[in-house]
Amino acid sequence: MPIEKTTALANSNIAFIKYWGNRDAAYRVPLNDNVSMNLDHAFTTTTVEFDANLNADQIVVGGADANEATRQRVSAHLDRVRALAKIETKARAQSENNFPTGTGIASSASAFAALSVAATHAAGLALSERALSILARQGSGSASRSIPGGFVEWIAGHSSDDSYAVSIAPPEHWDLRDVVVIVSTEEKKIGSSEGHAAAPTSHFLAERIQALPARFHRVRHAVLAKNLSLLGPAIEEDAIELHMMAMTSVPPIYYWSPAMVQVIQAVQQWRADGLAVYFTLDAGPNVHLICEGTDAAQVESLARAIVGVQQIIVNVPGGAAHLIDQHLF
Ligand code: PMV
Repeated sequence: MPIEKTTALANSNIAFIKYWGNRDAAYRVPLNDNVSMNLDHAFTTTTVEFDANLNADQIVVGGADANEATRQRVSAHLDRVRALAKIETKARAQSENNFPTGTGIASSASAFAALSVAATHAAGLALSERALSILARQGSGSASRSIPGGFVEWIAGHSSDDSYAVSIAPPEHWDLRDVVVIVSTEEKKIGSSEGHAAAPTSHFLAERIQALPARFHRVRHAVLAKNLSLLGPAIEEDAIELHMMAMTSVPPIYYWSPAMVQVIQAVQQWRADGLAVYFTLDAGPNVHLICEGTDAAQVESLARAIVGVQQIIVNVPGGAAHLIDQHLF
């Protein structure tokens, strides 16, 4: 078998229509179609090497041995790659994020996208973008959207084979920015896998499923038409709905936080003052401010002035996951 050390880079992404809840949890087939934008300044780099001398997978994340839960999840993903390549060889996998993990910037999205690209190539496979998206999705649902570039749609599908993401517009289509406002760098206590599992316990789920098709088409159309005043209200609606779903799950999940509300209220004031900026949220405490390039500097400086803001990461639409030459080991 080919033994080739391989490194890949994948951008994280921010969902405009959220993935929340699974039709099939084992394969991470989602309940609904969803849409996102890749983030060029929030990425994971991963190096993989299969080595016949290893008795077990060696997983290093951010310079340290991975904890048991991460090790098992990464090894399970490597098992998927081994099954595709028809090999049993164990691997060394090392990855680095250029942003703090577990903060509502989806680290699992970029992590499983980078791992999928690096590991398949290292195992001698040459998968299509669609097959890579299907593979990445099984590691973390949102990772399916970090395989293609730019603005991305994840077609929910009905089973593992028809649930994958495609690009609806390249990065240069629209100079949209995601100004990520980091108010906490603490790891979230309840991971999104648990959140997805809890979704059916929320009485809002039925209402959400009914509202989604129209909102999805509005968002998709707004992205294609580069229409921020159409996109903005729809993404805010969807972000709030995600948190309503979480808070009305049984037992309730609180990703909601006072600092987050403070930023949301600031955004409403800036908009009342004439600035075209909207927010979206993930399953974490930080707030993503969506605006056009012409307003990004002003949005960034206003956000910096909010007490309690720790860090700001400004993103333009990012490209597709790809191989790079600089290995991590
Ligand atoms: O890929 P997961 O299982 O971490 O789920 C992501 C869930 C959200 O980030 C809250 C929404 C989304 O679509 O990215």
